[in-house]
Amino acid sequence: MKYEELFNELKVHGQEHLLHFYEELPEEEQKKLLENVSRLDLSYAEAFAGKGEEIQRGTIEPLKAMTLAEEEAHAKEYREAGIRALREGRAAAVLLAGGMGTRLGTDGPKGCFDLGITRPVYIFQRLIENLQDSVKEAGAYVHLLIMTGEPNDRATRSFLKEHDFFGYPEEYVHFFVQDTAPAVDENGKILLESKTAPAVSPNGNGGWYSSLKKAGFAEFLKKQGVDYLNTFAVDNVLQRICDPLFLGAVILKDAAVGAKVTAKTGPDEKVGVVCLEDGHPAVVEYTELSEEMRNARDADGRLLYNWGYINNCLFRMEDLERASKGSMPLHFAHKKVPYVDAEGQRVTPSEPNAWKFEYFIFDIFKGMKSCLPFEVVREKEFAPVKNPTGVDSVESARELLKLNGYQL
Ligand code: UTP
Repeated sequence: MKYEELFNELKVHGQEHLLHFYEELPEEEQKKLLENVSRLDLSYAEAFAGKGEEIQRGTIEPLKAMTLAEEEAHAKEYREAGIRALREGRAAAVLLAGGMGTRLGTDGPKGCFDLGITRPVYIFQRLIENLQDSVKEAGAYVHLLIMTGEPNDRATRSFLKEHDFFGYPEEYVHFFVQDTAPAVDENGKILLESKTAPAVSPNGNGGWYSSLKKAGFAEFLKKQGVDYLNTFAVDNVLQRICDPLFLGAVILKDAAVGAKVTAKTGPDEKVGVVCLEDGHPAVVEYTELSEEMRNARDADGRLLYNWGYINNCLFRMEDLERASKGSMPLHFAHKKVPYVDAEGQRVTPSEPNAWKFEYFIFDIFKGMKSCLPFEVVREKEFAPVKNPTGVDSVESARELLKLNGYQL
């Protein structure tokens, strides 16, 4: 796009400051700046005007999960249906690896983190080994789509290639990059990360399906006969992926989406809960439940809002496609974002100075006809690596891996 054309478009949105340094840049850099700015999705900055209007929740009600006892009672039937579907190539796995992993605080993609003590045990390796368990059980490979973020895309691809995809056949591994959203200051002005580039970051894990589609994979998967997608987070090193039991249960229960859940440790565990909102499936945050709701129990003494969401979902593609036509709420996060000020000086803030925009994957539940929360044993399937130490950390994940018989 030409300078004038872009300048005029930016002016309409009050973002023409992005070209502030244009005149002083060498020609090559000018080109880069125009290219970077014209790729921006300005609708995010427009949406900033709506910040402060809290996302209104509807009427929240509990949603029953399929419990471990029910799963056990029907294990043969579910497992067989799941294995059949895997053999028929009806399921694919989608790894959500576009996050920044800021809490872990290491350089590079989170999946490259080595959890090993006496030998290397990379997070990506653990996840691929988990997927291989299902592949072995079914006797058929499933496509593995890996969503990266712009900042970690190259490092992720080269790491996996260097490690020979941890034994997974390369023709079944596909990458796509998730969309980005700009960061804005307190006045809604998009920040410049350098004189030639606006500050952008991945648009949240809810951006996965539109990014997958944009990369042409929705069509590809349909052609392959895939009709279920198992999305999973990069950081849970114990999760089952394309788990035949889960897949079979979702298929036989005719659910539009399945979500693996763990029973809460108590009313005050700070975890999102799978429930209903205005009659539609939803995940509500801990803070969105009143104290009374958090403590409410059923006749058996179980918490009514008991099912903690662990970010391992099975989406039926036709329902996903329909639901993705609707709009999703945009979430705002106040963060520290380094930027270049009007004098061209690089500023590294010590306090949050900017707003980032994110979509959350579970917000799509509201557009789904039905949801099957599927209980799993926490100690066997939930070991998230969010922090270096403490809760949901490298330390706690290592302990859980050892408990499950993994050598580190
Ligand atoms: P988290 O919410 O834990 O975010 O992501 P994060 O970026 O990994 O870590 P912090 O908050 O900066 O410490 C949950 C899952 O969603 C993915 C992550 O990679 C992880 O698998 N995710 C998150 C994306 O794929 N894209 C995003 O934009 C954000």
